[in-house]
Amino acid sequence: MAASLPRPRILRLRLQDFRSYPRLDLPLGACLTAFCGPNGAGKTNLLEAISLLSPGRGLRRATLTALARREGPGTFSILADLDTGTGPLALATGLVPDEAGRECRIDREPVSSAMRFLDHLTLLWLTPDQDGLFRGPAGDRRRFLDRLVLAVDSAHGSRVSSFETALRHRNRLLEEGGGPRWLDAIEQEIVELGTAVAAARAETVARLDALAERDAALMAPFPFARLTLEGELEQRLGSMAAGSVEDWYRAALRDGRARDRAAGRTLIGPQASDLAVLHGPKGEPAATCSTGEQKALLLGLILAQARLIGQMRGQPPMLLVDEVAAHLDAERRAALYRILRMLGGQVFLSGTDPLLFEALGEGASLMMVRDGSVVDA
Ligand SMILES: Nc1ncnc2c1ncn2[C@@H]1O[C@H](COP(=O)(O)OP(=O)(O)OP(=O)(O)O)[C@@H](O)[C@H]1O
Ligand SMILES: [Mg+2]
Repeated sequence: MAASLPRPRILRLRLQDFRSYPRLDLPLGACLTAFCGPNGAGKTNLLEAISLLSPGRGLRRATLTALARREGPGTFSILADLDTGTGPLALATGLVPDEAGRECRIDREPVSSAMRFLDHLTLLWLTPDQDGLFRGPAGDRRRFLDRLVLAVDSAHGSRVSSFETALRHRNRLLEEGGGPRWLDAIEQEIVELGTAVAAARAETVARLDALAERDAALMAPFPFARLTLEGELEQRLGSMAAGSVEDWYRAALRDGRARDRAAGRTLIGPQASDLAVLHGPKGEPAATCSTGEQKALLLGLILAQARLIGQMRGQPPMLLVDEVAAHLDAERRAALYRILRMLGGQVFLSGTDPLLFEALGEGASLMMVRDGSVVDA
């Protein structure tokens, strides 16, 4: 386990033309902050703004233009002043005129991408959109897993995107009837990148699986998840030497060219694998558990992830918990708040009813959100 580093906290959040907020200047800083207000008040928008202090498209996976306020100038900015524990740090991101991607700054200096934010801060979130995670398409679970891998292994992001680029390249070559030499070369690249992607995922899954079971009592009443990575490549990674797995993968791609050309995509590799999740205590596939069991299991999985990130980075992640409290009975809510405190990272929650947050306890802050304004209750 890494030595414990200071815990970053957002002390102030400023928004300009972001979603429903023309302008907002919000002092924060509590270990637990709950945003409370009626439907449509702008609570999730606040969590989404914070979620953009990490790589990717935030907790709604929105496009940049959707994030800009509809009646605004078409640009937006998010500024967060942090106390890192060793000093102040300013993270900023937004859409500026004539820029294709989003602009990111650390202490006012432009940085190449939001990946740099990971040097200072990791974020995890739980939203109602994730409710279908266990029943939905495998791609959602792969993305969910890749975010976790990225939090503990910052090279994973570029690995995955280079791999996806190489796959698109191969698919295009197949479609256009590219020569075998070109295909050999791109498939070699796919083999190297794809094996690295699968190995990084497998390592994180194994760690999380072990931790989830070990810490089951700490996370009670939220059940632990048993996790395995399913796929032809992943299965071989667990039982064969790395060199032999690469040889198998290369041959499978070569032999599969006609089939992949007909399918219009590459059928073998980590882009086709799945994260299989079992309800640990019941030993039942998550997908067939009841709705309530799935919600509790997802919560257990996120909390275990937070713990794994905390242990591997020596610094707990910041957590964004959208609407979750409303689905829990009073006892489970109190347990959730206790676990969130134990994890130690700054937490932001949302809900419509202030009563949901009565048990947050000492040092927590309740903020009322209404008509684009946010006030300390
Ligand atoms: N780009 C945008 N420009 C202006 N307003 C927007 C934009 N995107 C979303 N909104 C508005 O933001 C409002 C608040 O949305 P938000 O999802 O934050 O509400 P909420 O408080 O989380 O509500 P609920 O309790 O229903 O989840 C919505 O009414 C929506 O129409
Ligand atoms: Mg909401």
